[in-house]
Amino acid sequence: MQSVDRQRFAQMAEDYDRMAPFLVPMYEFLQQEMIRQVDLVSLASPRVIDLGAGSGRLLERMLTVCPRASCYWVDSSEAFLATARRRLGRFGGQVTYVLSPMEGDWVSRVSAPVDVICSMSAIHHLEHDEKRAVYARSFDLLAEGGWLVNIDEMKGLDADAYRGSLDVWVRYVAEQMLRVPPELQGHARQWAGHFENWKRRNVELFDRPKTKGDDLHEPFMDQVSWLKEIGYVNADVFVKYHLWCMVGGRKPWKVPARQPDCHPMQAVPV
Ligand SMILES: C[S@@+](CC[C@H](N)C(=O)[O-])C[C@H]1O[C@@H](n2cnc3c(N)ncnc32)[C@H](O)[C@@H]1O
Repeated sequence: MQSVDRQRFAQMAEDYDRMAPFLVPMYEFLQQEMIRQVDLVSLASPRVIDLGAGSGRLLERMLTVCPRASCYWVDSSEAFLATARRRLGRFGGQVTYVLSPMEGDWVSRVSAPVDVICSMSAIHHLEHDEKRAVYARSFDLLAEGGWLVNIDEMKGLDADAYRGSLDVWVRYVAEQMLRVPPELQGHARQWAGHFENWKRRNVELFDRPKTKGDDLHEPFMDQVSWLKEIGYVNADVFVKYHLWCMVGGRKPWKVPARQPDCHPMQAVPV
């Protein structure tokens, strides 16, 4: 991650933690739906990785409904690490903290196989090939039947629909700002400053080509297709709320043998 990006995240860690349930549309609903999708409560002692886990709100929710879970918090931000340690401290050794970019070598620091790999509002910071690589590396780490689920900002079916979904978030934030309780107004003002930058990058400069450090939204249908290509089954968009999509898939129970590059009959001389 570029240093300008790292600084942006460092400033917003605490504000993001306090404001996400107010200002990210359907924040808590989407987390609950992820837990439902992977049927977390049916697993006796699930092993979970959260990529770009931030302040740990999703892991906190998972550990609360599934007290025997063991989790990896993976994120590149020291500021978010400090916030997450405060939020998740009561779960003690059930949480392992891996400070690493998703593009880096977090894989060697987790013990596979795991049952669930999840992510929320983080993978869109990666470039095209990096996103696909994270999905592929996750596939390798999953137990058979394990789930990869990503809730993220994604493009829709066409540019008009995508543009409309960005505008919805702008209106949503304007409405929700009026509902922030007085004790959180300070965080709300700070967060609003970060959101102005988001609006400039994504709405005002809508047509400008995006580079690393921007929000690199990609179509939800493309992301479902990548999952299928990698080998995930049950791949789909499970929830879509304007810009936010929950896509995912499951590692099959028996990975099919790799197909030969050409049919054996083609090698037989005529
Ligand atoms: C918008 S916050 C979301 C945090 C959390 N997942 C949530 O939904 O509350 C984005 C998180 O992704 C992390 N992040 C961004 N780019 C990353 C990267 N390349 N590698 C690892 N973490 C990254 C940030 O540090 C931050 O914690």
